[in-house]
Order: sequence, then C-alpha cells, then structure tokens
Amino acid sequence: MHLPQLFAYLLPLCLSAAATHLSAPSGPYNVGFTQHIFNHTTPNDPTPGPGNIFLTSIYYPTRSVPSPNTSVAYFDATSAAIWGDVFNILPSHLLSLETTLQWQAPLLSDKEDVEKIKNWPTLVFGPGGGMNAGYFTSLLSDLASQGYTVLALDHPGEAPYLPLPYGNPGVVGWDIYMPYTDSLIVEMYEYRRAEMVALLGPDGFPALVELYGAYFNTQQYGAFGHSIGAATATGAMDGLDSIVAGFNIDGGLFGDSVNASLKGRPYFMTMNPNHFASDPDTWISFAERYANESKTEGGWLDWTTVEGSAHLAFSDISLWVELLPKIENATEKVDLGNVSGTRMDEILKTYVVSFFEWVTCGRYDEKLLDGEVEAWPEVVFNAKVRSDGHGTDGQNLGEGHA
Ligand SMILES: *[C@@H]1O[C@H](CO)[C@@H](O)[C@H](O)[C@H]1NC(C)=O
Ligand SMILES: *[C@@H]1O[C@H](CO)[C@@H](O)[C@H](O)[C@H]1NC(C)=O
Ligand SMILES: *[C@@H]1O[C@H](CO)[C@@H](O)[C@H](O)[C@H]1NC(C)=O
Ligand SMILES: *[C@@H]1O[C@H](CO)[C@@H](O)[C@H](O)[C@H]1NC(C)=O
Ligand SMILES: *[C@@H]1O[C@H](CO)[C@@H](O)[C@H](O)[C@H]1NC(C)=O
Ligand SMILES: *[C@@H]1O[C@H](CO)[C@@H](O)[C@H](O)[C@H]1NC(C)=O
Repeated sequence: MHLPQLFAYLLPLCLSAAATHLSAPSGPYNVGFTQHIFNHTTPNDPTPGPGNIFLTSIYYPTRSVPSPNTSVAYFDATSAAIWGDVFNILPSHLLSLETTLQWQAPLLSDKEDVEKIKNWPTLVFGPGGGMNAGYFTSLLSDLASQGYTVLALDHPGEAPYLPLPYGNPGVVGWDIYMPYTDSLIVEMYEYRRAEMVALLGPDGFPALVELYGAYFNTQQYGAFGHSIGAATATGAMDGLDSIVAGFNIDGGLFGDSVNASLKGRPYFMTMNPNHFASDPDTWISFAERYANESKTEGGWLDWTTVEGSAHLAFSDISLWVELLPKIENATEKVDLGNVSGTRMDEILKTYVVSFFEWVTCGRYDEKLLDGEVEAWPEVVFNAKVRSDGHGTDGQNLGEGHA
C-alpha cells in the first residue's frame, strides 16, 4: 500500500472523530465528578433563577480509569450556542471538547491513598460572574488529580444557562451581555457568600458527606475563586474560621468582603495588568490592612500580576479559543490578552497547586511563592507580606499602582 493512499483513507475518519481534550490533569489520580442540588432560599433573588436552590459540583480523586462511558461532557448545546457566539467558535466545536471527568466514579478505597489525603482541606470555588463553574474545569480537575476534593458553586439564574443534573430542566438566566450595576454586583456577592457559607455549614456539605459515609474533610477548607467568586471566597473567610487559606484570581472585593478580616491566614492574589481599571482601590487597601493585621496575627500574602493577561483568560475560555477553530474573519468581541491559553492554564494551575500544597503539606516552593521564576517572566510580584521576616514586609504595597 502506498503511504499517500493510506493517509487519504485515514484523514476523513480522523476528522469525523475529532474531539478536543483539555490538557490532562497533572496529579497522580484520575478525577471523579458528581453534583448535588442544595435547597437554599435567596430572599429577593435578582436573577431569573428559582431562588430556592444552588448547585454544587464535586471533583474528587479516583483510581478509576477514564472510559468514554463515564466521561462527563464539557458543554451542553444551549450554552455552546451562547458562548460560541461571543468567542467566535462554532457550537459544534465547543461540543467537541472532552473532559477526563468520570461521573460518580468510585472514591479512593486503598488505605494508603485515603490516609494520605483525608486530612487535606476540601477546596471550595466560586466562578466569575455570569460564568458556569464548569468553565474552570481544567484548574478544578487538576486540583482533584492532586488529591483534593473540590466543591464548585453555581447560582442558577446568574449564568445565561445552567444545566442541572438528575433530569431537572436547565435554568435560563441573565443575558450574557447583562450589564451589572454596582448595586447588583453587591446583591450577587451577597447571595453567593450566603450559599458558600451554607454549603460549608452543618446542613450543607458535611451533612451530605455523613449521609454517604465519605472520607472528605469537613473540618478544614481552602477557598478560592475568580472575579466575584474570589470576593465570595474572601467574604466567607471572614465568617468561617474553618477556611484556612484563600486564593483570589483577579477578583475585586465587593460588598463587605472589602473589610474581611483574615487574621493572618495565607492569601494569594493574582491579577491582570488592567485590574485597576475596573477595581481601582479594593486590593490596595485590603493588602495594606492585611499587612497591618499581620504584625500581630502572623500572616502571609502574595500579590502578583500576569503581564499580558486579561480578566477572562484566567479561565478555560482562553483554552477554548486557542484549541478550537475560529469562525473565519469574525470580529473579536473580548480581549483575552496575549498570553496563550495553554500558558495561562499552566501558570494558574502551578501557582494554585503550589499555594495549597504549602498550606496542606508544608512543602514551600520558595522559587514560586517568594520570587520571580525564569520560566514565567510575565508573573511579577507587586507585594509580599511575611510575618517572620521571610520576604518583604509589604511596606511598599500599592506603589506604582495609585
Ligand atoms: C428540596 O426541596 C424539594 C422540594 O421542595 C424536595 O422535594 C427535596 O427533597 C429537597 N431536597 C433536599 C435534599 O432536602
Ligand atoms: C460502555 O457501554 C457499552 C454499551 O452500554 C458497554 O457495552 C461497554 O461494556 C461499556 N464499557 C465500559 C468500559 O464500561
Ligand atoms: C468597610 O469599613 C469601612 C471602615 O470601617 C467602612 O467605612 C465601610 O462602610 C465598610 N464597608 C463595608 C461594605 O462594609
Ligand atoms: C496601619 O497601621 C497604622 C499604624 O497603626 C495606621 O496608621 C494605618 O491607618 C493602618 N492602615 C490601615 C490600612 O489599616
Ligand atoms: C503582551 O502584553 C504585555 C503587557 O500588556 C506587553 O508588555 C508584551 O510586550 C506583550 N507581548 C507581546 C508578544 O505582544
Ligand atoms: C476572510 O477574509 C479573507 C481576506 O479578506 C477572504 O479572502 C476570505 O474569503 C474571507 N473568508 C470568509 C469566510 O469570509
């Protein structure tokens, strides 16, 4: 057989089977996935959602090997049409994205596995405004593959469309171009914080874990989020001492999160270079107050910028745009910066994983957490707070950003 013929024969087959994968999670475990709908009332819910539920997606380590039968779809058809239009991607291409998540795969059962990770903090995540938590699948799966249990929250009605599990109809929410006023953002922050606090309260995740007899940690949490999801995580830290650390992905501090008292708990914040255009002052005053508190409470804070990045690039969106074909000649509607999707993905995973690894296991990567890394010159430090003289004392906070 002539080689060219072989290729001519194979090519159409390959194309028709095309599926696009996000990069495989980097940790030693595969990733299980389940969802739970919690009853929870939002008084005067401003969204078109029902106002009496929130959705929690649970990502967790498993030894089960991914198979096409159990793998969870990335997109639903309704969302693919809405998001494809914004980012100039055909819905069919978004629908070709595949995850390595396995629906309700068995939990770890090996004694050694369980002993190793059962006391790691459970991580709780809030997505950016109007986004489904699933659009952070790459980061959330990666954390689960390291051994963490990760809980991600969705408030039905906020994103344009949220599919619900177990045969429940999906929820149509706000238009994707919904303009958020300042007062609306505070309302969103408030229902999101109430949901995160309810999830970690006795009737939330701990009750579910007890019901299923799982080994998940319900005593200690790490909180993180993107945009308003980061404000939510920060506000939740103020009320809940069970949250031991926080990671803020480019999120202005809305509502009362601006005054959150972290009592020296480790906190990482990373932003895009234009962050101050939309949020001129909350980070500066927050970090200054944190540094002040740290004099008596201990404390650890990093504040970085990813040069060349943009707000929505701190999500899977920049991966969709990089990995999938673009509709030809369509006008770009959203700036995703000039750092490629796979690079943003790698940067974000590395810092989040390294931060929580330190908090969890005490493994402190000085290169990553204390300084600039040669491989990523675009990650620059604006401030560090250290209580033990390690690093700077944060006295130059905000310099050059006023
Ligand atoms: C939530 O409320 C619905 C209807 O009000 C009820 O059928 C369901 O059992 C409740 N779920 C839980 C977990 O309590
Ligand atoms: C996948 O599903 C098909 C059809 O239901 C079944 O025949 C097959 O055994 C399943 N494969 C695995 C690996 O579970
Ligand atoms: C934050 O604290 C300041 C100073 O105490 C206060 O003026 C402000 O109203 C507080 N903001 C919120 C949203 O609670
Ligand atoms: C930090 O502490 C100093 C001295 O106690 C005080 O003057 C300053 O207002 C404090 N700054 C903040 C942001 O709390
Ligand atoms: C990317 O953007 C950053 C900051 O906006 C700029 O410094 C850098 O030169 C840009 N890089 C490229 C390759 O355009
Ligand atoms: C896109 O633009 C190029 C150059 O202007 C043109 O040759 C091409 O036909 C256009 N493609 C479509 C699908 O409009």
